[in-house]
Amino acid sequence: MSQVVKTAFDPKNMPFRRLGPSGLRVPVFSLGGWLTLGGTVIGDPVKEIIKVAFENGINMFDTAEGYAQGRSEIEMGRVIKELGYRRTDLVITTKLFFGTRKGPNDTGLSRKHIIEGTQESLERMGLDYVDVLFAHRPDYSTPMEEVVRAFNYVIEKGWAFYWATSEWSARDIEEAYHVAEKLNLIPPIAEQCQHHMLHRERPEKEYAPIYRKYGVGTTVWSALASGLLTGKYNNGIPPDSRFAAHSDFFKDTLNSLTQEEGQAKIQKVKDLTTLAETELGCSVTHLALAWVAKNPNTSTVILGASKPEQVVDNLKALEVIPKLTPDILDKIEAILQNKPAPAATFGRPALDAYGRL
Ligand SMILES: NC(=O)c1ccc[n+]([C@@H]2O[C@H](COP(=O)([O-])OP(=O)(O)OC[C@H]3O[C@@H](n4cnc5c(N)ncnc54)[C@H](OP(=O)(O)O)[C@@H]3O)[C@@H](O)[C@H]2O)c1
Repeated sequence: MSQVVKTAFDPKNMPFRRLGPSGLRVPVFSLGGWLTLGGTVIGDPVKEIIKVAFENGINMFDTAEGYAQGRSEIEMGRVIKELGYRRTDLVITTKLFFGTRKGPNDTGLSRKHIIEGTQESLERMGLDYVDVLFAHRPDYSTPMEEVVRAFNYVIEKGWAFYWATSEWSARDIEEAYHVAEKLNLIPPIAEQCQHHMLHRERPEKEYAPIYRKYGVGTTVWSALASGLLTGKYNNGIPPDSRFAAHSDFFKDTLNSLTQEEGQAKIQKVKDLTTLAETELGCSVTHLALAWVAKNPNTSTVILGASKPEQVVDNLKALEVIPKLTPDILDKIEAILQNKPAPAATFGRPALDAYGRL
């Protein structure tokens, strides 16, 4: 990648956290490209979104080979080069599994696809390496030893510094750790999972032993439930919105919003809006993002944005994180009514109601 540096990174007031057990520092809020960058957003607007993020303390950008069949990686790589950012200032992550073509070896986590897929991703982005390479899904048709060995090969080649998982079960992550330990290889450091106020079971309960035993951190996706937690869908589907633009992909969600289950979610969003506005002086968007960021196992919350203004708006959540006192968190729980049941204690008191089990 060209080293013509036009703009040095200034973290401003962005807090940084370790990515899981690693020494890599990531901003509490990062930016991703699913459906947006290279998808519904192309050309100069991609540059405006990345530029505004970078100028506001975001130096971590997430994409995947499968996003817009590789166009997300192409657009992100092009823009980063044009903006003249120093490579060492950036944390760039991509993900392998879904591929850009449908051939028998163009997807999944075989050694062949991990190695060829990495090379193709780097070529699309115009980069020599990514910081973290994610396995975008588990591949039950490839032996775990092959997966762990292939990610280690990629790391040894210098094409990625770390590897990580996305939407793997706790059992899958355990297996990867055991295989890596047995072979004296590097295990995954993070899990890219869905986590938001309306989706909690896996990130808060299933992964609890993984956080405790291995210190795995999360790079959270869809913290706003694709926009539902902004309140923009409270009174129908705005034409200029993700659910309208991708109505096929979200058809189950759209259908559920007309049913009792979806309406109950909308009611929760409305009640959270009242809480945010009256007690915290913020929007429900800021509250929802701050709530995920506050979780002790969250390394970074990956923001999604179709416009630069959304990035700027969403970063106001940083001011809300310290306002989430135990009292406010209890009020949130009273609205959500979906806190995962703690692990069985057989009559003994739980150790920590807010953090690790
Ligand atoms: N590993 C995985 O399997 C996986 C899966 C999904 C996502 N991800 C990663 O996580 C990133 C974030 O996920 P996501 O995009 O689903 O996050 P999200 O925050 O739940 O949704 C982002 C969308 O919500 C709307 N929005 C955001 N801020 C807003 C605001 N302030 N006001 C009104 N609307 C707002 C925008 O859509 P509109 O303006 O178009 O309505 C935006 O594109 C992705 O880009 C990707 O990098 C990973």
